[in-house]
Amino acid sequence: MPPKAQRRKSKPLKTQSTAPSPSNRVQIHPGSLLSSGDLTIDGLRSILELADLLEGEDPIRRAQRLFKRRVSLLFYESSTRTRTSFELAAKALGADTSLVSAQSSSIEKGESLKDTGITLRALGAECIILRSPYSGAPYLLAKSTGLPILNAGDGMHEHPSQALLDLRTILHYLKAGSRVTERTLTGVTVTICGDIFHSRVARSNALLLPRLGARVILCGPPPLLPEAAAQLDPGVVIERDFDRALAQSEIVMMLRIQAERLAGLALDLEEYKARYQANAERIASHAANALIMHPGPIIRGLEITSEVADGAQSAIAEQVRNGVAIRMALIMRALTSTAHEDFRSRKRGGR
Ligand code: CP
Repeated sequence: MPPKAQRRKSKPLKTQSTAPSPSNRVQIHPGSLLSSGDLTIDGLRSILELADLLEGEDPIRRAQRLFKRRVSLLFYESSTRTRTSFELAAKALGADTSLVSAQSSSIEKGESLKDTGITLRALGAECIILRSPYSGAPYLLAKSTGLPILNAGDGMHEHPSQALLDLRTILHYLKAGSRVTERTLTGVTVTICGDIFHSRVARSNALLLPRLGARVILCGPPPLLPEAAAQLDPGVVIERDFDRALAQSEIVMMLRIQAERLAGLALDLEEYKARYQANAERIASHAANALIMHPGPIIRGLEITSEVADGAQSAIAEQVRNGVAIRMALIMRALTSTAHEDFRSRKRGGR
């Protein structure tokens, strides 16, 4: 049984940031990334520009940047894309990585998140990348270790590095460059379709994209997108009719139907496919020029067909590739940011 602080119930999607207020965030290392809502436009721009720089850099030179620095990956949930790309990103910068997963570690014996974090810190971890099934777990780890924590997905709450790699994919598609402002995505409509209720990816994107001017349409049936559960920011709207949403969209993000979280929900999967599946006929009729995205893993034949997933409009593989560049930038920011130095001097000065 996890400790009490880890058993916090996941909340339904609210697009307002659920990050703690600045007054109770004082102990959180500023190199952390816990919520996409925490990033300023300047901060976003510097991550995107750093990702460009690191991706284009000579690999030998790049591997000197964090030579022998220690990065821990702490994964309480399974992952292919996020775990591998964070690991490749850290290694590309020359860092040493260690992976702790719930299976085959002392987590299985009941060791708490806090004690696991303190143990990793004692072993020299300078940054922890955390995936947890519990919403809010990265905040607990950040407070209990004082280390920079990168949220690699926490329960139904957030997946901020996914939103950043999604943003990079969109910017490349629009040829918009990385010098983002509040107006970079003005006039761009992004539809996010599927299991919004359970989706940390939807929440992080709905927090991020409107801040750059995008209009976000959330689309899905009531069991997966309850009207009352979505407290919408300006720039975020609900549209139940997928075809109508598609017709307005330059970008379409499909979400996985999370079969593991559907128990108790009244959802007819055949009806769902008829109304919300991204299939070739529907995309050709209503969104023939849109970019089709999906954070993965995809369930072929359910929320998206193979024709669409593998088709010319699909950016799914590019999203995965962008994950490495974005995660290199996040690890660099965690370990070398000037904010990091400010944090150290604030601590020294006792403020
Ligand atoms: N998009 C994503 O988080 O995929 P993984 O679960 O494979 O990391």
